[in-house]
Amino acid sequence: MNKLYIEGNKKLNGHVVISGSKNAALPILFMTILATEEIEIHNIPQVTDIKIAIKLLKYLGAKIKNKNKILYIDTSSMNIYNPPYHLTKKIRASIWMLSPLVTRFGKAKIFFPGGCDIGCRPIDLHLKGLVSLGVKIIKKDNYIIALADRPLQGKHIYIEKISVGATVTIMSAATLAKGLTIIENAAQEPEIVDVAKFLNTLGANITGAGSNKIYITGVSKLYGGYHKIIPDRIETGTFLIAAAISKGFIICNKTEPKYLTNVLKKLSESGANIKVGKNWIKLDMQKKMPKAVNISTSPYPGFPTDMQPQFTLLNSIAQGKSIIVENIFENRFVYTNELIRMGAKIKIKKNYIVCTGTSKLSSNNLFCHDLRGSATLILAGCIANGITVVNNIHHFKRGYESFMKKLNKLGANIKYI
Ligand code: EPZ
Repeated sequence: MNKLYIEGNKKLNGHVVISGSKNAALPILFMTILATEEIEIHNIPQVTDIKIAIKLLKYLGAKIKNKNKILYIDTSSMNIYNPPYHLTKKIRASIWMLSPLVTRFGKAKIFFPGGCDIGCRPIDLHLKGLVSLGVKIIKKDNYIIALADRPLQGKHIYIEKISVGATVTIMSAATLAKGLTIIENAAQEPEIVDVAKFLNTLGANITGAGSNKIYITGVSKLYGGYHKIIPDRIETGTFLIAAAISKGFIICNKTEPKYLTNVLKKLSESGANIKVGKNWIKLDMQKKMPKAVNISTSPYPGFPTDMQPQFTLLNSIAQGKSIIVENIFENRFVYTNELIRMGAKIKIKKNYIVCTGTSKLSSNNLFCHDLRGSATLILAGCIANGITVVNNIHHFKRGYESFMKKLNKLGANIKYI
Protein backbone atom coordinates (compact mmCIF):
# COMPACT_ATOMS: atom_id res chain seq x y z
CA MET A 1 0.00 0.00 0.00
CA ASN A 2 2.64 2.49 -1.02
CA LYS A 3 0.46 4.19 -3.65
CA LEU A 4 -2.52 6.50 -3.62
CA TYR A 5 -5.35 6.74 -6.11
CA ILE A 6 -6.73 10.27 -6.25
CA GLU A 7 -9.83 11.39 -8.11
CA GLY A 8 -9.42 14.92 -9.43
CA ASN A 9 -11.61 17.99 -9.96
CA LYS A 10 -12.51 18.19 -6.28
CA LYS A 11 -13.42 21.22 -4.25
CA LEU A 12 -12.04 21.04 -0.71
CA ASN A 13 -14.33 22.70 1.83
CA GLY A 14 -15.09 22.38 5.52
CA HIS A 15 -13.50 22.09 8.94
CA VAL A 16 -10.23 20.43 9.89
CA VAL A 17 -8.63 19.89 13.30
CA ILE A 18 -4.90 20.58 13.32
CA SER A 19 -2.58 18.08 15.04
CA GLY A 20 0.42 18.73 17.27
CA SER A 21 3.60 20.00 15.66
CA LYS A 22 5.96 17.26 14.48
CA ASN A 23 8.94 19.62 14.54
CA ALA A 24 8.26 20.64 18.14
CA ALA A 25 7.44 17.12 19.34
CA LEU A 26 10.62 15.54 17.92
CA PRO A 27 13.19 17.62 19.85
CA ILE A 28 11.00 17.57 22.96
CA LEU A 29 10.88 13.76 22.92
CA PHE A 30 14.68 13.56 22.78
CA MET A 31 15.06 16.20 25.54
CA THR A 32 13.31 13.82 27.95
CA ILE A 33 16.71 12.07 28.13
CA LEU A 34 17.88 15.01 30.28
CA ALA A 35 15.32 14.34 33.04
CA THR A 36 15.05 11.41 35.40
CA GLU A 37 11.39 11.60 36.48
CA GLU A 38 8.17 10.82 34.61
CA ILE A 39 7.07 13.35 31.98
CA GLU A 40 3.59 13.60 30.46
CA ILE A 41 3.39 15.07 26.95
CA HIS A 42 0.05 15.86 25.26
CA ASN A 43 -0.93 16.53 21.64
CA ILE A 44 1.67 14.16 20.18
CA PRO A 45 1.09 13.83 16.40
CA GLN A 46 0.62 10.26 15.21
CA VAL A 47 3.16 10.31 12.39
CA THR A 48 5.99 7.99 11.38
CA ASP A 49 8.86 10.28 12.46
CA ILE A 50 7.42 10.35 15.98
CA LYS A 51 7.01 6.56 16.00
CA ILE A 52 10.70 6.23 15.11
CA ALA A 53 11.68 8.69 17.88
CA ILE A 54 9.69 6.60 20.38
CA LYS A 55 11.42 3.42 19.15
CA LEU A 56 14.79 5.10 19.60
CA LEU A 57 14.00 6.19 23.16
CA LYS A 58 12.74 2.69 24.02
CA TYR A 59 15.90 1.17 22.57
CA LEU A 60 17.95 3.41 24.88
CA GLY A 61 15.98 2.11 27.86
CA ALA A 62 13.13 4.61 28.33
CA LYS A 63 9.76 3.36 29.58
CA ILE A 64 7.01 4.86 27.43
CA LYS A 65 3.23 4.56 27.60
CA ASN A 66 1.26 5.90 24.64
CA LYS A 67 -2.43 6.68 25.18
CA ASN A 68 -4.66 8.89 22.97
CA LYS A 69 -1.86 11.17 21.74
CA ILE A 70 -0.45 11.42 25.28
CA LEU A 71 2.98 10.02 26.05
CA TYR A 72 4.15 9.13 29.54
CA ILE A 73 7.94 8.94 29.38
CA ASP A 74 10.26 7.79 32.12
CA THR A 75 13.94 7.77 31.16
CA SER A 76 15.24 7.12 34.70
CA SER A 77 16.36 3.58 33.83
CA MET A 78 17.99 4.61 30.54
CA ASN A 79 21.48 3.14 30.31
CA ILE A 80 22.44 3.05 26.62
CA TYR A 81 24.25 5.92 24.92
CA ASN A 82 24.63 4.53 21.38
CA PRO A 83 21.36 4.50 19.39
CA PRO A 84 21.26 1.98 16.51
CA TYR A 85 21.99 2.79 12.87
CA HIS A 86 18.77 1.32 11.41
CA LEU A 87 16.61 3.86 13.33
CA THR A 88 19.00 6.81 13.47
CA LYS A 89 19.37 6.92 9.67
CA LYS A 90 15.59 7.25 9.21
CA ILE A 91 15.12 10.71 10.73
CA ARG A 92 17.13 13.92 10.68
CA ALA A 93 15.87 14.68 14.19
CA SER A 94 17.97 11.82 15.59
CA ILE A 95 20.90 14.29 15.80
CA TRP A 96 19.04 15.80 18.77
CA MET A 97 19.93 12.72 20.84
CA LEU A 98 23.60 13.65 20.76
CA SER A 99 23.46 16.56 23.19
CA PRO A 100 21.21 14.99 25.90
CA LEU A 101 23.12 11.69 25.73
CA VAL A 102 26.56 13.26 26.18
CA THR A 103 25.17 15.56 28.88
CA ARG A 104 23.70 12.62 30.77
CA PHE A 105 26.33 9.91 30.27
CA GLY A 106 29.46 11.91 29.52
CA LYS A 107 29.66 9.98 26.27
CA ALA A 108 27.54 9.27 23.21
CA LYS A 109 28.00 7.44 19.95
CA ILE A 110 25.66 8.41 17.18
CA PHE A 111 25.41 7.67 13.46
CA PHE A 112 25.01 10.58 11.06
CA PRO A 113 21.27 11.31 10.79
CA GLY A 114 19.01 10.63 7.81
CA GLY A 115 15.81 12.48 6.84
CA CYS A 116 14.35 14.25 3.80
CA ASP A 117 16.63 14.60 0.80
CA ILE A 118 16.28 18.38 0.36
CA GLY A 119 19.93 19.37 0.54
CA CYS A 120 23.24 18.24 2.01
CA ARG A 121 22.16 19.22 5.56
CA PRO A 122 25.46 19.34 7.45
CA ILE A 123 25.62 19.14 11.27
CA ASP A 124 28.80 21.19 11.74
CA LEU A 125 27.00 23.92 13.72
CA HIS A 126 25.59 21.38 16.19
CA LEU A 127 29.07 19.97 16.73
CA LYS A 128 30.78 23.38 16.98
CA GLY A 129 28.27 24.43 19.63
CA LEU A 130 28.90 21.30 21.67
CA VAL A 131 32.67 21.73 21.39
CA SER A 132 32.30 25.31 22.72
CA LEU A 133 30.57 23.92 25.80
CA GLY A 134 33.40 21.45 26.43
CA VAL A 135 32.45 18.33 24.46
CA LYS A 136 35.20 16.44 22.62
CA ILE A 137 33.98 15.26 19.21
CA ILE A 138 35.60 12.40 17.29
CA LYS A 139 34.25 11.98 13.75
CA LYS A 140 34.46 8.58 12.06
CA ASP A 141 33.21 7.53 8.59
CA ASN A 142 29.51 7.31 9.44
CA TYR A 143 29.32 8.04 13.14
CA ILE A 144 30.40 10.51 15.81
CA ILE A 145 31.71 9.91 19.29
CA ALA A 146 31.12 12.67 21.83
CA LEU A 147 32.95 12.73 25.15
CA ALA A 148 32.64 15.15 28.06
CA ASP A 149 33.52 15.72 31.67
CA ARG A 150 30.28 16.66 33.37
CA PRO A 151 28.92 19.23 33.89
CA LEU A 152 29.57 21.06 30.63
CA GLN A 153 30.72 24.68 30.91
CA GLY A 154 28.43 27.60 29.88
CA LYS A 155 29.72 29.86 27.07
CA HIS A 156 28.84 32.81 24.83
CA ILE A 157 28.14 31.23 21.43
CA TYR A 158 27.44 32.97 18.13
CA ILE A 159 25.88 30.54 15.60
CA GLU A 160 27.29 31.48 12.19
CA LYS A 161 24.15 30.57 10.25
CA ILE A 162 20.62 30.57 11.65
CA SER A 163 19.81 26.92 12.33
CA VAL A 164 16.81 25.42 14.10
CA GLY A 165 18.67 22.19 14.73
CA ALA A 166 21.86 23.76 16.13
CA THR A 167 19.88 26.14 18.35
CA VAL A 168 18.06 23.17 19.92
CA THR A 169 21.30 21.21 20.35
CA ILE A 170 23.12 24.06 22.09
CA MET A 171 20.14 25.13 24.20
CA SER A 172 19.65 21.59 25.49
CA ALA A 173 23.35 21.04 26.22
CA ALA A 174 23.50 24.34 28.14
CA THR A 175 20.52 23.44 30.33
CA LEU A 176 22.61 21.34 32.72
CA ALA A 177 25.93 23.12 32.08
CA LYS A 178 27.71 25.17 34.71
CA GLY A 179 27.02 28.92 34.54
CA LEU A 180 25.51 31.08 31.81
CA THR A 181 25.28 30.26 28.11
CA ILE A 182 24.24 32.94 25.64
CA ILE A 183 23.23 31.86 22.14
CA GLU A 184 23.43 34.67 19.61
CA ASN A 185 21.93 34.52 16.12
CA ALA A 186 19.58 31.85 17.45
CA ALA A 187 16.68 30.50 15.38
CA GLN A 188 13.37 32.06 16.47
CA GLU A 189 10.90 29.42 15.30
CA PRO A 190 7.83 28.69 17.47
CA GLU A 191 9.20 25.14 17.83
CA ILE A 192 12.31 26.56 19.60
CA VAL A 193 10.03 28.46 21.98
CA ASP A 194 8.11 25.26 22.68
CA VAL A 195 11.32 23.32 23.44
CA ALA A 196 12.45 26.09 25.84
CA LYS A 197 9.02 26.14 27.51
CA PHE A 198 9.20 22.35 27.92
CA LEU A 199 12.69 22.46 29.44
CA ASN A 200 11.66 25.30 31.80
CA THR A 201 8.68 23.21 32.94
CA LEU A 202 11.17 20.54 33.98
CA GLY A 203 13.23 23.08 35.94
CA ALA A 204 15.56 24.66 33.37
CA ASN A 205 16.30 28.39 33.37
CA ILE A 206 15.97 29.63 29.78
CA THR A 207 14.93 33.13 28.70
CA GLY A 208 14.82 34.89 25.35
CA ALA A 209 13.63 31.93 23.24
CA GLY A 210 11.72 33.35 20.28
CA SER A 211 14.25 36.18 19.91
CA ASN A 212 17.71 35.92 18.32
CA LYS A 213 19.44 35.85 21.72
CA ILE A 214 18.76 33.04 24.19
CA TYR A 215 20.10 33.00 27.78
CA ILE A 216 20.46 29.69 29.58
CA THR A 217 21.59 29.56 33.19
CA GLY A 218 22.59 26.00 33.96
CA VAL A 219 20.72 24.08 36.66
CA SER A 220 21.83 20.91 38.43
CA LYS A 221 18.85 18.67 37.64
CA LEU A 222 15.68 18.41 35.54
CA TYR A 223 12.50 16.98 37.07
CA GLY A 224 9.26 15.48 35.74
CA GLY A 225 6.39 17.57 34.40
CA TYR A 226 3.50 18.09 31.99
CA HIS A 227 3.66 19.70 28.55
CA LYS A 228 1.30 20.18 25.60
CA ILE A 229 2.85 20.36 22.13
CA ILE A 230 1.96 23.46 20.04
CA PRO A 231 -0.20 23.11 16.89
CA ASP A 232 1.50 22.27 13.62
CA ARG A 233 1.83 25.50 11.62
CA ILE A 234 2.94 23.69 8.45
CA GLU A 235 0.00 21.26 8.55
CA THR A 236 -2.25 24.33 9.00
CA GLY A 237 -0.67 26.07 6.01
CA THR A 238 -0.99 22.93 3.88
CA PHE A 239 -4.75 22.72 4.55
CA LEU A 240 -5.18 26.44 3.82
CA ILE A 241 -3.53 25.82 0.44
CA ALA A 242 -5.87 22.84 -0.16
CA ALA A 243 -8.86 25.18 0.02
CA ALA A 244 -7.14 28.01 -1.85
CA ILE A 245 -6.25 25.88 -4.90
CA SER A 246 -9.76 24.45 -5.17
CA LYS A 247 -11.53 27.83 -4.86
CA GLY A 248 -13.01 26.55 -1.62
CA PHE A 249 -13.26 27.56 2.01
CA ILE A 250 -11.82 26.00 5.13
CA ILE A 251 -11.71 26.52 8.86
CA CYS A 252 -8.57 25.19 10.57
CA ASN A 253 -9.34 24.58 14.24
CA LYS A 254 -6.99 24.10 17.19
CA THR A 255 -4.23 26.04 15.48
CA GLU A 256 -2.23 29.18 16.30
CA PRO A 257 -2.72 32.01 13.75
CA LYS A 258 0.25 34.06 14.99
CA TYR A 259 2.68 31.35 13.82
CA LEU A 260 1.48 31.85 10.25
CA THR A 261 1.61 35.64 9.84
CA ASN A 262 3.69 35.57 6.64
CA VAL A 263 1.81 32.63 5.15
CA LEU A 264 -1.54 34.35 5.76
CA LYS A 265 -0.20 37.58 4.21
CA LYS A 266 0.70 35.71 1.03
CA LEU A 267 -2.67 33.95 0.93
CA SER A 268 -4.47 37.31 1.29
CA GLU A 269 -2.30 38.71 -1.48
CA SER A 270 -3.40 35.78 -3.66
CA GLY A 271 -7.04 36.79 -3.18
CA ALA A 272 -8.15 34.70 -0.19
CA ASN A 273 -10.47 36.21 2.37
CA ILE A 274 -8.93 35.37 5.74
CA LYS A 275 -10.33 35.67 9.24
CA VAL A 276 -8.61 34.54 12.40
CA GLY A 277 -9.75 33.87 15.95
CA LYS A 278 -7.99 32.78 19.10
CA ASN A 279 -7.23 29.27 17.85
CA TRP A 280 -8.74 29.13 14.35
CA ILE A 281 -8.17 30.42 10.83
CA LYS A 282 -10.86 30.68 8.16
CA LEU A 283 -9.94 30.99 4.51
CA ASP A 284 -12.53 31.65 1.82
CA MET A 285 -11.62 31.95 -1.86
CA GLN A 286 -15.20 33.01 -2.70
CA LYS A 287 -15.01 30.66 -5.68
CA LYS A 288 -12.23 32.73 -7.28
CA MET A 289 -8.97 31.48 -8.77
CA PRO A 290 -5.90 32.52 -6.76
CA LYS A 291 -3.57 35.23 -8.06
CA ALA A 292 0.15 34.43 -8.39
CA VAL A 293 2.36 35.56 -5.47
CA ASN A 294 6.14 35.84 -5.23
CA ILE A 295 7.76 33.86 -2.41
CA SER A 296 11.22 34.03 -0.87
CA THR A 297 11.97 31.63 1.99
CA SER A 298 13.91 32.67 5.10
CA PRO A 299 14.20 31.69 8.77
CA TYR A 300 11.26 32.53 11.07
CA PRO A 301 9.56 35.00 11.18
CA GLY A 302 10.22 34.95 7.40
CA PHE A 303 8.35 32.79 4.91
CA PRO A 304 8.88 29.10 5.85
CA THR A 305 10.77 26.81 3.49
CA ASP A 306 8.38 24.04 4.60
CA MET A 307 5.53 25.89 2.80
CA GLN A 308 7.48 26.55 -0.40
CA PRO A 309 6.24 23.47 -2.37
CA GLN A 310 2.58 24.07 -1.47
CA PHE A 311 2.80 27.70 -2.67
CA THR A 312 4.43 26.55 -5.90
CA LEU A 313 1.34 24.43 -6.50
CA LEU A 314 -0.88 27.44 -5.79
CA ASN A 315 1.18 29.51 -8.24
CA SER A 316 1.00 26.72 -10.86
CA ILE A 317 -2.77 27.17 -11.17
CA ALA A 318 -2.93 30.89 -10.30
CA GLN A 319 -3.48 33.86 -12.59
CA GLY A 320 -0.14 35.40 -13.51
CA LYS A 321 3.56 34.77 -13.20
CA SER A 322 5.57 34.33 -10.00
CA ILE A 323 9.09 33.83 -8.75
CA ILE A 324 9.74 31.44 -5.87
CA VAL A 325 13.16 31.70 -4.23
CA GLU A 326 14.47 28.96 -1.91
CA ASN A 327 17.12 30.31 0.46
CA ILE A 328 17.35 27.56 3.08
CA PHE A 329 17.88 24.21 1.32
CA GLU A 330 19.71 23.76 -1.99
CA ASN A 331 17.69 20.78 -3.28
CA ARG A 332 14.09 21.61 -2.48
CA PHE A 333 12.60 21.84 -5.99
CA VAL A 334 12.67 18.12 -6.88
CA TYR A 335 8.86 17.86 -6.65
CA THR A 336 8.50 20.50 -9.41
CA ASN A 337 9.43 17.87 -12.03
CA GLU A 338 6.25 16.00 -11.08
CA LEU A 339 4.13 19.17 -11.27
CA ILE A 340 5.65 19.86 -14.70
CA ARG A 341 4.51 16.36 -15.79
CA MET A 342 1.00 17.45 -14.74
CA GLY A 343 1.20 20.45 -17.04
CA ALA A 344 2.56 23.10 -14.65
CA LYS A 345 4.63 25.76 -16.40
CA ILE A 346 7.70 25.93 -14.19
CA LYS A 347 11.24 26.90 -15.18
CA ILE A 348 13.86 25.77 -12.69
CA LYS A 349 16.79 28.16 -12.28
CA LYS A 350 19.53 27.98 -9.63
CA ASN A 351 17.87 28.65 -6.28
CA TYR A 352 14.62 29.92 -7.71
CA ILE A 353 11.85 28.94 -10.09
CA VAL A 354 9.68 30.94 -12.43
CA CYS A 355 6.11 29.81 -12.54
CA THR A 356 3.42 30.81 -15.05
CA GLY A 357 -0.08 29.89 -13.98
CA THR A 358 -2.11 27.50 -16.10
CA SER A 359 -5.85 27.03 -15.66
CA LYS A 360 -5.77 23.24 -15.18
CA LEU A 361 -3.35 20.49 -14.23
CA SER A 362 -3.81 17.01 -15.67
CA SER A 363 -3.48 13.68 -13.89
CA ASN A 364 -0.34 11.55 -14.08
CA ASN A 365 1.60 8.78 -12.33
CA LEU A 366 3.60 10.75 -9.74
CA PHE A 367 6.57 9.95 -7.47
CA CYS A 368 7.22 11.56 -4.08
CA HIS A 369 10.74 12.41 -2.92
CA ASP A 370 10.24 14.25 0.37
CA LEU A 371 7.64 15.15 2.97
CA ARG A 372 6.31 18.57 1.89
CA GLY A 373 6.68 17.70 -1.80
CA SER A 374 4.53 14.61 -1.26
CA ALA A 375 1.72 16.59 0.42
CA THR A 376 1.88 19.02 -2.50
CA LEU A 377 1.52 16.25 -5.10
CA ILE A 378 -1.46 14.77 -3.24
CA LEU A 379 -3.18 18.18 -3.25
CA ALA A 380 -2.33 18.58 -6.94
CA GLY A 381 -4.04 15.23 -7.62
CA CYS A 382 -7.20 16.44 -5.86
CA ILE A 383 -7.68 19.37 -8.25
CA ALA A 384 -6.24 17.93 -11.51
CA ASN A 385 -8.33 16.56 -14.37
CA GLY A 386 -8.68 12.76 -14.14
CA ILE A 387 -7.21 10.11 -11.84
CA THR A 388 -3.76 10.68 -10.36
CA VAL A 389 -1.63 7.91 -8.87
CA VAL A 390 0.91 8.98 -6.26
CA ASN A 391 3.81 6.60 -5.47
CA ASN A 392 6.28 6.48 -2.53
CA ILE A 393 3.70 7.81 -0.13
CA HIS A 394 5.66 6.82 2.98
CA HIS A 395 7.01 10.39 2.78
CA PHE A 396 3.76 12.15 3.70
CA LYS A 397 3.13 9.76 6.58
CA ARG A 398 6.31 11.06 8.23
CA GLY A 399 4.73 14.41 8.98
CA TYR A 400 0.97 14.55 8.38
CA GLU A 401 -1.37 12.84 10.82
CA SER A 402 -4.44 11.22 9.14
CA PHE A 403 -3.79 13.32 6.02
CA MET A 404 -5.98 11.24 3.67
CA LYS A 405 -8.78 10.99 6.21
CA LYS A 406 -8.76 14.74 6.80
CA LEU A 407 -8.69 15.53 3.06
CA ASN A 408 -11.47 13.03 2.30
CA LYS A 409 -13.62 14.70 4.96
CA LEU A 410 -13.11 17.98 3.10
CA GLY A 411 -14.40 16.43 -0.13
CA ALA A 412 -11.39 14.65 -1.65
CA ASN A 413 -11.57 11.08 -2.91
CA ILE A 414 -8.23 9.46 -2.06
CA LYS A 415 -7.75 5.70 -1.63
CA TYR A 416 -4.84 3.38 -1.05
CA ILE A 417 -4.07 1.05 -3.93
C1 EPZ B 1 14.37 21.97 10.71
O1 EPZ B 1 15.42 21.30 10.04
C2 EPZ B 1 13.10 21.24 10.35
N1 EPZ B 1 13.22 19.83 10.73
C3 EPZ B 1 12.86 21.34 8.85
O2 EPZ B 1 11.61 20.75 8.60
C4 EPZ B 1 12.81 22.81 8.44
O3 EPZ B 1 12.70 22.88 7.04
C5 EPZ B 1 14.09 23.52 8.89
O4 EPZ B 1 14.28 23.34 10.32
C6 EPZ B 1 14.08 25.01 8.60
O5 EPZ B 1 12.95 25.60 9.17
C7 EPZ B 1 12.85 19.43 11.94
O6 EPZ B 1 12.46 20.23 12.78
C8 EPZ B 1 12.94 17.99 12.23
P1 EPZ B 1 18.22 24.08 10.03
P2 EPZ B 1 16.95 21.56 10.41
O7 EPZ B 1 19.27 23.57 10.92
O8 EPZ B 1 17.03 21.79 11.88
C9 EPZ B 1 22.17 24.74 7.44
C10 EPZ B 1 10.03 19.45 7.35
O9 EPZ B 1 9.59 19.36 6.18
N2 EPZ B 1 22.90 24.06 8.51
O10 EPZ B 1 17.44 25.27 10.48
O11 EPZ B 1 17.73 20.50 9.80
C11 EPZ B 1 21.23 23.82 6.68
O12 EPZ B 1 21.90 23.08 5.68
C12 EPZ B 1 11.47 19.81 7.56
O13 EPZ B 1 9.36 19.26 8.36
C13 EPZ B 1 24.29 24.03 8.47
O14 EPZ B 1 24.92 24.55 7.54
O15 EPZ B 1 17.19 22.92 9.65
C14 EPZ B 1 20.22 24.79 6.14
O16 EPZ B 1 20.73 25.40 4.97
C15 EPZ B 1 12.42 19.47 6.54
N3 EPZ B 1 24.95 23.37 9.47
C16 EPZ B 1 20.13 25.86 7.23
O17 EPZ B 1 21.33 25.73 8.00
C17 EPZ B 1 24.28 22.81 10.52
O18 EPZ B 1 24.96 22.24 11.40
C18 EPZ B 1 18.95 25.73 8.15
O19 EPZ B 1 18.84 24.39 8.63
C19 EPZ B 1 22.89 22.86 10.56
C20 EPZ B 1 22.21 23.50 9.54
